[in-house]
Amino acid sequence: MDPIITRTSTVFALSLCVACIPPAFADPDDNALVIEGVEITTDVAAPADSPFSRLYSGWRFRSPETQALQTDDFDNPAFAAVELGAELWETVDGTEGKSCASCHNEAEESMKGLRASTPKWSEAAGKPQTVQNFVNSCRTERMGADAWKWESGNMLAMTSFIGLQSRGMPVAVKTDGPMETWWQKGKDLYYTRVGQLDLACANCHETNYGMRIRSDHLSQGQINGFPTYRLKWGGLGSIHRRFKGCMDQVRAEPYKRGSDEFLALELYVASRGAGLSVESPAVRN
Ligand code: HEC
Ligand code: HEC
Repeated sequence: MDPIITRTSTVFALSLCVACIPPAFADPDDNALVIEGVEITTDVAAPADSPFSRLYSGWRFRSPETQALQTDDFDNPAFAAVELGAELWETVDGTEGKSCASCHNEAEESMKGLRASTPKWSEAAGKPQTVQNFVNSCRTERMGADAWKWESGNMLAMTSFIGLQSRGMPVAVKTDGPMETWWQKGKDLYYTRVGQLDLACANCHETNYGMRIRSDHLSQGQINGFPTYRLKWGGLGSIHRRFKGCMDQVRAEPYKRGSDEFLALELYVASRGAGLSVESPAVRN
């Protein structure tokens, strides 16, 4: 047996499994996800340079009850926020007397595909930009409005509304050119062991995905569904909130939301999900 797997499984059994039930493997299930008639790719052959042979959306690791919440927008608890996002899109704010719609017209057209391709390079910023970065630069530089906090209700609503315009489209971030150093930085972070438990992202989401830990089923840690409504949070959260939560779990000092570290990590993790459909806004436990 691969000694690394034995080692990390032991770490799991000792430090993560509160009730000390040894971890068990369970494949992602075979359920198919169709949302409002749109087929969602939750399972795709991995690209040649991937550590996986197949990529799986986190949806495939959830219970049938949680899965069902995502199949119908009426049942998806994230849709109250999507509606708020649609309202904010039309709302004039700031000293310039403009709304998002004043310049971008219909989000269904202008924002289509954006979530599938972010983080993406911005010449103006001189670095990759997430959807949140774009929203705030328009607010502060083009509307004369205040920036929204990363995890604020308005930002989650707007990013859910923008994300929805890419639902069903394959994740396809660019990682070449000026993106390459950021991608490499994200990759380094992904494989660096941190915290009191001395675990890297890869120890859970690459080497041990499929394992059952406590009452949870470890996925590949994909981000195609964000912003995601988590039943545990009782609300929506950003990718960076999830990263922070995972770093907290291993008792590491987490990076800040919007930091260059999480930006690099978001780019790298997005690239690991190439070809999976955008599911925003997804539902997880
Ligand atoms: C100790 C194990 C562990 C480590 C280390 C860990 N995570 Fe997680 N992570 C989990 C668990 C458990 C979940 C919830 C079940 C699932 O989706 O895998 C989760 C969920 C996630 C999700 C949500 C997946 C979805 O479909 O919504 C993402 C993204 C994620 N982790 C990224 C990371 C990143 C990036 C790192 C490194 C900074 C990391 N995780 C480190 C255990 C871990
Ligand atoms: C005064 C006009 C103006 C307003 C108002 C405005 N934007 Fe923008 N926005 C732009 C311009 C110009 C760009 C950069 C050019 C481009 O790539 O389309 C841009 C880029 C973006 C991008 C990146 C698009 C891409 O394809 O890279 C997003 C996302 C965005 N804006 C969201 C918003 C949101 C959300 C609002 C409202 C809160 C808003 N914008 C308000 C003019 C505006």
